[in-house]
Amino acid sequence: MTTVFSGEGIKIVSAIVLIAVYFSVIYVKPTVLHALQSWKNTTRSITLRQCTIILRKQDGRLGNRLFMFASAYGLSLNRSCHLYINPAIITELGQSFEINLPHSLLSKSYSNDSKFVEKIDNHCSFLPHVFYSNYTCSLELSGYWQVYKYFVDYKQQLRRQLRFKQSILDRVNDFLSKTNNRSNSTLVGLHIRRGDFLSIRRVSSLKYIFQAMSYFQMKYGLVTFVIVSDDKVYCQKTFAHRNNVVITPSSFSAAEDLATLAMCDHAIITVGTFGWWGAFLLHNESGEVISDSKPDHSPLDVKCRHEDYFPYWFSFLNKTD
Ligand SMILES: *[C@@H]1O[C@H](CO)[C@@H](O)[C@H](O)[C@H]1NC(C)=O
Ligand SMILES: *[C@@H]1O[C@H](CO)[C@@H](O)[C@H](O)[C@H]1NC(C)=O
Ligand SMILES: *[C@@H]1O[C@H](CO)[C@@H](O)[C@H](O)[C@H]1NC(C)=O
Ligand SMILES: *[C@@H]1O[C@H](CO)[C@@H](O)[C@H](O)[C@H]1NC(C)=O
Ligand SMILES: *[C@@H]1O[C@H](CO)[C@@H](O)[C@H](O)[C@H]1NC(C)=O
Ligand SMILES: *[C@@H]1O[C@H](CO)[C@@H](O)[C@H](O)[C@H]1NC(C)=O
Ligand SMILES: *[C@@H]1O[C@H](CO)[C@@H](O)[C@H](O)[C@H]1NC(C)=O
Repeated sequence: MTTVFSGEGIKIVSAIVLIAVYFSVIYVKPTVLHALQSWKNTTRSITLRQCTIILRKQDGRLGNRLFMFASAYGLSLNRSCHLYINPAIITELGQSFEINLPHSLLSKSYSNDSKFVEKIDNHCSFLPHVFYSNYTCSLELSGYWQVYKYFVDYKQQLRRQLRFKQSILDRVNDFLSKTNNRSNSTLVGLHIRRGDFLSIRRVSSLKYIFQAMSYFQMKYGLVTFVIVSDDKVYCQKTFAHRNNVVITPSSFSAAEDLATLAMCDHAIITVGTFGWWGAFLLHNESGEVISDSKPDHSPLDVKCRHEDYFPYWFSFLNKTD
């Protein structure tokens, strides 16, 4: 009798517990999820491994610097390693962008011991082993690391690090609103890289540029092309007679020119990494990017693969050599 009663007692207690659990799941779920989420978030920041992605060299100009920064940042997030970036690089990029790397990620020092640091010199090769190699080993990047695959998984985080300074955006907005009836026309940024590329590499053909312009004009009708270039004198001579073209002022800094590209609705880019970054940072994330696909013929580029350099959402026109 007593035993049976105890058994019933247990059944009743179990039922009460079940009901309590049921209600707590219904009513407490959001809180539980929130706690779990913040636990995961905290855990994520404290489970960084004892490894560091190191970027010391301040090579190249803006476009190349951005590739190096982005690759180091992407690899540190992918491998859960700390990130050491030469403070001079952060200071310099910080003049143009609202860089705000989490303190938990940043490392103030790094090991110079070659036993623990794998140093990789890379220009443009996609080396899958850097994702999968010994995770406890630190990695020092040298070279330009012009491969979008090292950071594309972290595109949103990267875009947050590379938001232009307000003073730059203000100046660009001022320029765009004065030169364009924005409500009426689609803005297509056009980057024309010349300068040293005329002698050391190559420049994109005018045939390509005009075909790309026609493409946008046919698709969107009323289009204003906003030209950004390291050779504005040439651009004045070649394009200024067209009434749907504006050229950024020669007083614009490289960062202001880059922000101008990013603030257009779509982009046409020629050779070089500067235009590439203007297109990658387009504020209109579904904006179209037309790129010159012709391979560069510099010894540096022999091993570069098209599919490692150009993001999958960039497009190309046929027959534009
Ligand atoms: C956890 O991190 C995600 C993404 O980083 C964020 O959206 C979310 O608000 C964070 N949650 C908490 C509770 O901190
Ligand atoms: C790191 O990147 C590789 C290659 O894209 C991917 O397979 C892997 O899941 C990534 N790891 C993390 C932790 O994101
Ligand atoms: C590492 O070595 C470089 C030169 O090889 C030196 O400039 C730097 O100060 C060293 N860093 C540390 C943390 O020892
Ligand atoms: C990974 O690297 C650490 C430090 O360099 C080393 O002690 C360890 O033996 C390595 N593990 C493998 C599997 O190579
Ligand atoms: C803006 O559009 C008006 C007509 O709608 C035109 O008269 C004017 O020239 C345009 N301004 C610029 C800067 O394109
Ligand atoms: C430009 O847009 C305004 C309204 O936003 C309109 O009144 C005007 O007619 C348009 N001009 C042209 C040239 O399409
Ligand atoms: C952004 O890009 C999409 C897709 O290409 C396009 O339809 C849209 O008009 C663009 N936004 C603006 C403001 O031009």
